[in-house]
Amino acid sequence: MQTAQISSHSRQETLELARRFARMLKGGEIIFLRGPIGAGKTVFVKGVASALGLKSSPTSASFSLMKKYTNKKHHLFHIDLFRLEEGEVFNLGFEEMLEDEKAVILAEWPDPIRQMMPSDRLEMDFILKEGDERVITLKSFGRVSDALLGGICKTANK
Ligand SMILES: Nc1ncnc2c1ncn2[C@@H]1O[C@H](COP(=O)(O)OP(=O)(O)OP(=O)(O)O)[C@@H](O)[C@H]1O
Ligand SMILES: [Mg+2]
Repeated sequence: MQTAQISSHSRQETLELARRFARMLKGGEIIFLRGPIGAGKTVFVKGVASALGLKSSPTSASFSLMKKYTNKKHHLFHIDLFRLEEGEVFNLGFEEMLEDEKAVILAEWPDPIRQMMPSDRLEMDFILKEGDERVITLKSFGRVSDALLGGICKTANK
């Protein structure tokens, strides 16, 4: 397991972090986004989607649980399981998603699917601070997520 901590002081900074992030994505990454309402999880997903050149920018996936955004190179799956219980999640098409080599999975409120997902994932915990400040703790749990986190840290402050 590796960990890192990044501060964001504005929506713009979170979008910038997302852009840096997007450059590292090859497909096969799973990212869990945790933290309270308004922490910036969806802002981050939007930043990743736009940096990957994916057209329809996701607003909130809350009503559909899972949205897929695709272009030739990338398949972004935006999952949002706010207020769902473990037993309420089924038929989301997980098998296909997990077999998709181009899949980048970004999951808000991921706890209900924790048991169904591979352990190699990057967990991002957003903490709300004063005003627009957010502290994001990143933890990786395997080969793919370790490489992703390593890449992010290398490009920090660039
Ligand atoms: N540093 C920051 N990073 C991201 N968003 C910020 C920041 N500072 C202020 N904001 C604002 O906070 C809000 C974050 O909203 P967002 O929808 O991304 O939250 P969320 O974590 O997805 O919440 P939910 O759990 O309801 O889905 C936006 O209105 C954004 O403009
Ligand atoms: Mg959200």
